[in-house]
Amino acid sequence: MKLISLIGARPQIIKEAILNQELETEGIEEILVHSGQHYDFNMSDVFFKVLNIKKADYNLGIGSGTHAEMTGKTMIEFEKVVLKEHPDIILVYGDTNTTLAGALVGSKLKIPVAHVEAGIRQEPKDMPEEINRVLTDRISKYLFCPSKLATNNLKKENITEGVYFTGDIMYDLFLKMKPHFDESIINKFNLEENKYIVTTIHRDFNTDNKSNLEAILKELDKISKEIKVVFPIHPRTKKQTKKFDLEQYTKNILMIEPLDYLSMMGLVQKSLFVITDSGGLQKEAYFAGKRAIVVMPDTGWRELTDAGWNILSRPDEIKDKMNCVINDTIDSKVENIYGDGNAGKKIVSYILNDFNSSLYF
Ligand code: UD1
Repeated sequence: MKLISLIGARPQIIKEAILNQELETEGIEEILVHSGQHYDFNMSDVFFKVLNIKKADYNLGIGSGTHAEMTGKTMIEFEKVVLKEHPDIILVYGDTNTTLAGALVGSKLKIPVAHVEAGIRQEPKDMPEEINRVLTDRISKYLFCPSKLATNNLKKENITEGVYFTGDIMYDLFLKMKPHFDESIINKFNLEENKYIVTTIHRDFNTDNKSNLEAILKELDKISKEIKVVFPIHPRTKKQTKKFDLEQYTKNILMIEPLDYLSMMGLVQKSLFVITDSGGLQKEAYFAGKRAIVVMPDTGWRELTDAGWNILSRPDEIKDKMNCVINDTIDSKVENIYGDGNAGKKIVSYILNDFNSSLYF
């Protein structure tokens, strides 16, 4: 059996770290293709390094651009690789332009597509990630869901075939790498345990709209007068902060370059709580036993907001929500939403079983 994994953006590289191990264990040949959607060292190479992921067999060198440019270029270049390699299955992850491009290429060439992190849904429906998810789920043969809610979302859309609840591969990674989290990062930045918060902001609706970005930075500025705020900043957010002339609000915030996985998790583990619009980080905060203020109108990880663990916030009310997080005590941590840490194993075994049974008839 030959499988192609297509990755391209930071969270997909992280997810690949688990699956490449499982595929290797099962003796499945994996061709690793990087679209090049993320290309800065801190957004891509560093994750290969710290998570010990094999070098990509192909890098499509797509880079940044409009959504059509990124999706279209990825499709054109990826199709060439698929036609050359003749895989039995194509694996795509998450909700990026790379994901959709890979799913379109595979389904049009009639090669089964497996979608890892299927069934996540959130408002607004026109956000690029939501468009990518919905379309990828429609054309994938295997839909590997990280939560029960995700399988229910698919059911509501009448997608029931090929749907598997596996648990979340990011939880697998969290458990596996926990002993290696770099907590010494707090010394590097002169931080004290539980006396700082970690924030990341990168969604287009928060960064590409001046009033939203301004409101967020003003709130963070207010918060930073009470507690240290550490902000590993995404390149998009950095550019937009400069473009909208908002740098005056970042003076009191500890602005740092994006961090590798082990340093980021070390930072989160020792923090008081997290403020983010990242889908991955709001869950990782929960894995680490930290609460998160989620600066989004909605989240794909509603289990955590429904349970009151995470709190949604508008850009201009982050400080008020922070007071809720500090003053409300929440009884206990919601348990076992994202599986048992064996999502990667389950994904590979479902694929293998199905492949073996399809050899006949
Ligand atoms: C993408 C995904 C999002 C995921 C996120 C993780 C889409 C539509 N969105 O968002 O689901 O949560 O990755 O980070 O695919 N840039 C650089 N260097 C890089 C990468 C990006 O400078 O290495 C800058 C460029 O200006 C680029 C902008 O960041 O235009 C946005 O990058 P892009 O890949 O389009 O989307 P993300 O916001 O990273």
